[in-house]
Order: sequence, then structure tokens, then C-alpha cells
Amino acid sequence: MNDQIDVKEQERIKKIQKTVVGMYSKKPWPASRETNEEMGWRLHMLGVRKEDFVGKRVIELGCGTGEYALWYAANGAKEVVGVDLSDGSLEIANRKKKESKLENITFIKHDILKLDKEVFKDEYFDYAYSVGVLHHTGDPEKGFKNLCRVTKTGGVVIVSLYNAYSRFVLRIKQNICKILGGDDIDKRARIGRKLFPFFMYSMNKRYHESNYEAISYDVFGFPHESVHTAEEVLKWFDKNELEYTGAFGPLRLRDYFYAYSLPEYHAFKKTFSGFPIVQFISYMMNKVSGAYRYFVKDEIRKFPRPSWFSTLMIQLIWFIIGNRINCFTMAAIKKDKVT
Ligand SMILES: C[S@@+](CC[C@H](N)C(=O)[O-])C[C@H]1O[C@@H](n2cnc3c(N)ncnc32)[C@H](O)[C@@H]1O
Repeated sequence: MNDQIDVKEQERIKKIQKTVVGMYSKKPWPASRETNEEMGWRLHMLGVRKEDFVGKRVIELGCGTGEYALWYAANGAKEVVGVDLSDGSLEIANRKKKESKLENITFIKHDILKLDKEVFKDEYFDYAYSVGVLHHTGDPEKGFKNLCRVTKTGGVVIVSLYNAYSRFVLRIKQNICKILGGDDIDKRARIGRKLFPFFMYSMNKRYHESNYEAISYDVFGFPHESVHTAEEVLKWFDKNELEYTGAFGPLRLRDYFYAYSLPEYHAFKKTFSGFPIVQFISYMMNKVSGAYRYFVKDEIRKFPRPSWFSTLMIQLIWFIIGNRINCFTMAAIKKDKVT
């Protein structure tokens, strides 16, 4: 009986993987990204700094066209490995690697749900990162376990997933495309572009107008995705002996005041173009957050774990703000099992 369930489950995941990887091979993500403007602020709120990567080993599971992995390699990491299954994405990643002349990065074609222990050794990397990927796999928790396995004790695990609250309205739009377009991914993406021009406009602006087609496939073509909550990720942290260090967007109200007082905010705010309400709130938050910094003078390296009430309240705010935070990121340190 159990074997039968196992076979069925494997079939389900195989089917998901075939369509997901097939789509990203044809329409790699991202087509383009200004990675540098995003990283400083996000990393700071995760309890990490840009300079922490210097001399370290970094792995990115589901690296797509390699934008983030290349950023780590260019910012001083000793060794960077990007893993993905889609040939189309890896082709672009390798081309960018060649153009950048970086020697400290390797892209490997491999299934992140079946990370081979011979190739990806236990406790090898200082930083293990997966952004916008696990929710496309059909078994996100298994992918997360692999992320933890390859991370050293004392190393940092960073995971970014679609949020159930902020993506709620978008899911309705996606389902409309699914009903009208059926299994035809090209048709779904076409319908999404036609029916939701305002969404397309906002998201394209967020990527400085260089990702229009790729966005329509990533969002409306979507062959498979699951949505997640911050509480769920905290449970994954507990199961895998990880200690929370931060989140982006932050999961406590007071951390927003801290965030908006940081100099790194000014580079990141360019990604708010196309989202006038978020832009306005951010502008106001930046103005008032100076007062908060009067009390919190030191840099925070580890944010306290948020209470369930705080996570719920913040995610309800994300529900209202919607698309700009449709992916949330959380980070944790791998604890020593003995202590
Ligand atoms: C939305 S893209 C994210 C790319 C990248 N992390 C970024 O945001 O710049 C998702 C990527 O996950 C990859 N992917 C999905 N399932 C995978 C699996 N089981 N093993 C390896 N890669 C996978 C896809 O091929 C695709 O390139």
C-alpha cells in the first residue's frame, strides 16, 4: 500500500517537474534583473551583510539564469554553485558567467529534490539560498531539507517562497487564466497579458521594463505553484534545527521602522516603481523612521523570532499590499546539535 502511494507521489512530482522545467527552459527567469539594487536591504533584514560572503562557499538551488549566483561570485564569495534543471536558463547563466569572466562560479544541471550526496556533500556551504523555486517543485519541504543538509553548522539558510496572503488576489487572476487557457501555457500567458494589463504594467515597471514576456509566463503561464505562510517556514526551521535570524518583508512591525531607516533602502526603493501605494507608504515610513533609530542605534545582526500574532498581523498587511511582496524571504542559522 505504502509503495503504491510512493509511486503515485513520484509520478505526480515527475509530471510537475516536466511542465515547470519545460516552461522555464523555453521562457527562462529572470530575463533581466538589477540584482545589486535589491541585495543590500534584503540581506540586512535577513541578518546578513554583503561583506559576509567574502571568502565563503555559496549554493543557490534553482538558480534560473544565474542572476543571484553571479552576484555572490562578483561580491567576493570563494566558491559559488548554481543548480537548476532547465537547459534554457543554464545556457543563459553560463553565457553570463563567460561574459563576467568570473572563475569562482559553476552551474550544475541537477534536480534539487534529489541532490546527490556524492556531488553535493553534507555541511559544505556557508550560505545556502533558494529564491522563488521550492513552490514550483511539488515537494517544497523536501527541497528545503536538501538546502539544510548542504549547509554547514553555523551556516545560513535563506529561503524565499510565494506567500499565501499576499498572493491571494493574484491566485484568483491566475485561476481565471487557467480556466480560459487550459493546459496551454502560451495561451494562459497571452490571456494574462490581455486581461490584467495593470498588473503587467506594475510588475514590468518593478523590473525596469525589461521582463514583460517572462513575467507573463512566470505568473500566468505557471504550470505549478504552491503558496506558503511564515508560520509554516518557522516550523521547517524548528524541524531542521535552525535558528531564525530575519525576514524580508520583516515579520514584526517595529522592524519596518528599523528597515526604513537604513541607507540600503534608497537603492531598493527603485523596485517600488509601478506600485504607487507602496511607494507612498515607503516614502512616509522613511521620513518617520529616523525617530525610531534614535532609540535603536546599533545594527541588528539577528532579529528576534516573531510571535504568531505578529506574523499573522504582518501577513494580513501583505494581503492588502498584495503583489509587491508576493514572495517573502526568511533566513536562519544552522544550530550546533550538541548545544
Ligand atoms: C522562478 S525561477 C527562479 C530563478 C532564480 N532563483 C531567480 O529568482 O533569479 C524557478 C527556477 O526553478 C527551477 N526548478 C524548478 N524545479 C526544479 C528542480 N526540481 N530542480 C532544479 N531546478 C528546478 C526552474 O527551472 C527555474 O529556473
